[in-house]
Amino acid sequence: MRKVLFSFLILPLLIVSPAAALTTSDCFDCHSDDSLTKTVGEREVSLYIDEEIYSRSVHGDMDCTDCHEDLADVEDEHDESVEPVECANCHDDTAEEMSPSVHTGRSGGSGSGLPRCADCHGKHSILPRNDRRSMVFDLNVPATCCACHASTEAASESGPSPSNVCGEYEDGMHGIVLIRSGLIFSAVCNDCHGSHDIRSKSDPSSRVADGNVNATCSSCHTGIVDVFAGSIHGKRLAEGSGDAPICTSCHSSHATERAMDASFLVTVTDRCSECHPEEADTFRDTYHGQVTGMGYAEAAQCPDCHGAHDILPGDDPASRVYPDNLPATCGNCHAGANESFTQYLPHADYHDADRFPQLYYVYLAMVVLLFGVFFFFGIHTLLWFIRAYIEEKGKRA
Ligand code: HEC
Ligand code: HEC
Ligand code: HEC
Ligand code: HEC
Ligand code: HEC
Ligand code: HEC
Ligand code: HEC
Ligand code: HEC
Ligand code: HEC
Ligand code: HEC
Ligand code: HEC
Repeated sequence: MRKVLFSFLILPLLIVSPAAALTTSDCFDCHSDDSLTKTVGEREVSLYIDEEIYSRSVHGDMDCTDCHEDLADVEDEHDESVEPVECANCHDDTAEEMSPSVHTGRSGGSGSGLPRCADCHGKHSILPRNDRRSMVFDLNVPATCCACHASTEAASESGPSPSNVCGEYEDGMHGIVLIRSGLIFSAVCNDCHGSHDIRSKSDPSSRVADGNVNATCSSCHTGIVDVFAGSIHGKRLAEGSGDAPICTSCHSSHATERAMDASFLVTVTDRCSECHPEEADTFRDTYHGQVTGMGYAEAAQCPDCHGAHDILPGDDPASRVYPDNLPATCGNCHAGANESFTQYLPHADYHDADRFPQLYYVYLAMVVLLFGVFFFFGIHTLLWFIRAYIEEKGKRA
């Protein structure tokens, strides 16, 4: 392709007489001057093109007028205003791919500040994506996207609705692993969103729509997604239940927490509790729930007993809370936990007479006792006062 283009473009230059269209070297005669500028509004814009960088770029073999088509027939000097470049003239497949994306403003975007090809690739310094200096090399993608998506005032003035995705990403595990550890295997923006066909979460065909998130994470965390598929949550999800959790129900999309951190288990427990409010209430009443509620993360929280990606109902023999498995589950923290130790009820509900009759009647008896005592002493004290009053009155009389 390059060769064909090259000979195609060079040949006419050799034949044509001097007073013809501007050649690429004519363009450089003026545009390799690094003091050449133009004032747009109040801003000074450089019109300098670095010859070396240009020649190293993927389009280095091309003539300026292959992109700046409107200058193809201009002689000597060109007009002040030049038409915008249409990359799609040659990259029609990419333009096609981009057409349904939020970035074309056709699927619900605000329409202002939308990125053009050059915003993500550059103009005269475009390099293949696997070149470290390319704007779309993995390590550089966050900076490229965050030129618009960082919630700075300058970025959000004419750009997307302000949100802090970039700050969250930087502090999340994927950002830390990419930026600080320099690992290009980590997830960058386009691994989860795509590059050209980026769609809003509300579009069901988006990679980040609820129905597709697990598949998106699965391109790297394949093992976990497989285990999850066998859990009660994964099964309900496969059946099409809209209530079942997906990867991002427990893990944040951008501020992805480090799984080992004690604070993450507290966060996850809150997330389990939103979907399982009854078990969350009974858990809060127990010793484990009370002390973890006060910040003592060593005691058991939901995932310590139920697991994370392999959660199953209690009557499934593979469940961590199936009676036969409880000594091992509790034994992780309570050395020597045996069957009688596991008789303890982690979700005891003293209001529930059907499931916990003993507890319920003990609770009832305690309540009766309490009120009985108050009642008896209340009457006793009242009578005492009356009697004291009568006696006092008698003495005075
Ligand atoms: C004789 C010197 C000269 C030559 C030759 C020349 N330019 Fe320019 N070019 C200028 C100047 C001066 C400006 C700034 C004009 C202005 O103030 O708006 C400019 C501006 C531009 C702009 C920016 C226009 C805009 O709207 O911001 C482009 C693009 C451009 N030139 C491309 C080219 C290309 C491509 C060639 C070769 C085909 C070329 N120029 C050849 C002097 C030159
Ligand atoms: C791969 C396509 C491509 C090629 C090849 C190309 N340009 Fe451009 N050029 C652009 C784009 C994109 C812009 C940004 C403005 C726009 O969208 O039209 C631009 C803008 C410019 C500007 C305005 C200043 C700026 O940086 O925005 C100048 C000057 C310019 N080009 C000169 C040249 C010269 C000289 C050559 C040849 C050495 C050349 N261009 C080759 C795509 C190209
Ligand atoms: C006149 C046709 C033409 C125009 C216009 C054009 N390109 Fe290209 N582009 C090419 C050719 C030819 C290649 C080299 C393909 C190759 O090496 O396989 C290329 C390569 C690329 C590559 C690297 C692809 C790879 O596989 O390594 C990128 C990225 C790219 N162009 C982006 C752009 C952008 C962005 C614009 C607009 C600013 C643009 N192109 C305008 C013809 C064009
Ligand atoms: C929102 C940012 C963004 C916009 C806008 C964008 N691209 Fe891309 N493009 C990317 C990213 C990121 C990649 C890298 C893909 C990858 O790593 O798989 C890429 C890859 C490419 C490639 C393949 C590069 C290679 O080395 O294989 C070409 C060609 C390309 N883009 C052309 C275009 C053209 C033409 C346009 C405009 C119609 C455009 N892009 C608009 C972000 C963008
Ligand atoms: C690990 C996957 C993943 C990575 C990496 C990722 N995102 Fe997201 N992003 C998502 C998911 C999933 C959503 C859907 C909303 C949600 O569930 O929180 C989303 C939503 C968004 C939104 C729309 C929601 C909002 O709050 O405005 C934007 C914009 C966005 N991401 C930009 C980015 C940018 C920029 C980067 C890179 C710095 C990035 N994302 C990296 C998964 C990811
Ligand atoms: C030139 C600025 C610009 C760049 C660069 C850019 N975006 Fe956008 N992006 C926008 C605008 C404007 C919208 C419109 C939607 C809006 O108003 O929220 C948008 C929308 C989005 C949305 C949908 C937001 C939603 O509310 O659902 C996602 C996701 C997104 N961009 C991701 C990316 C990713 C990933 C990259 C880098 C590969 C990127 N953007 C690069 C300007 C940009
Ligand atoms: C491009 C590959 C890739 C994609 C896609 C990806 N991740 Fe990751 N993820 C990684 C890498 C690499 C690490 C760092 C290694 C590690 O710490 O386990 C990581 C780390 C994590 C961690 C922290 C693990 C820990 O040990 O603390 C969580 C949680 C996580 N990812 C969840 C997700 C979720 C949820 C999704 C989908 C929304 C996702 N990832 C998408 C590659 C990816
Ligand atoms: C019901 C909540 C929940 C869901 C849904 C969930 N996770 Fe997790 N995930 C956790 C918990 C809790 C941990 C911490 C496990 C531990 O410390 O043993 C964890 C740990 C991780 C880790 C770090 C590895 C480890 O075990 O330390 C990765 C990576 C991860 N999850 C990815 C995913 C992916 C990908 C999905 C989607 C299939 C997903 N998670 C769905 C709760 C969940
Ligand atoms: C987004 C909501 C959601 C989140 C978050 C969630 N779950 Fe679930 N969970 C469900 C749904 C839906 C079911 C299936 C209920 C059914 O159909 O029996 C379920 C089932 C279960 C079951 C089996 C119960 C039964 O009756 O079969 C257990 C145990 C369980 N979840 C524990 C957890 C734990 C522990 C966490 C946190 C680590 C958690 N869940 C997070 C929605 C959620
Ligand atoms: C100390 C261990 C432990 C902790 C902590 C714990 N559970 Fe349980 N959970 C169990 C055991 C054992 C069972 C089975 C016996 C029962 O139903 O009481 C169970 C039962 C359940 C069930 C019903 C399962 C079924 O098949 O009917 C759900 C749902 C549940 N737990 C959710 C949670 C949630 C949500 C949390 C955190 C707020 C949590 N659990 C904390 C041990 C625990
Ligand atoms: C993540 C670790 C962990 C797991 C798993 C766990 N516990 Fe605990 N549990 C604790 C801690 C820490 C305490 C605080 C008491 C202490 O300091 O000994 C505690 C306290 C208790 C207590 C009350 C106080 C006492 O005097 O010991 C009982 C009863 C108990 N756990 C039963 C269980 C049962 C039954 C299971 C299994 C269903 C279980 N625990 C699972 C960590 C755990």
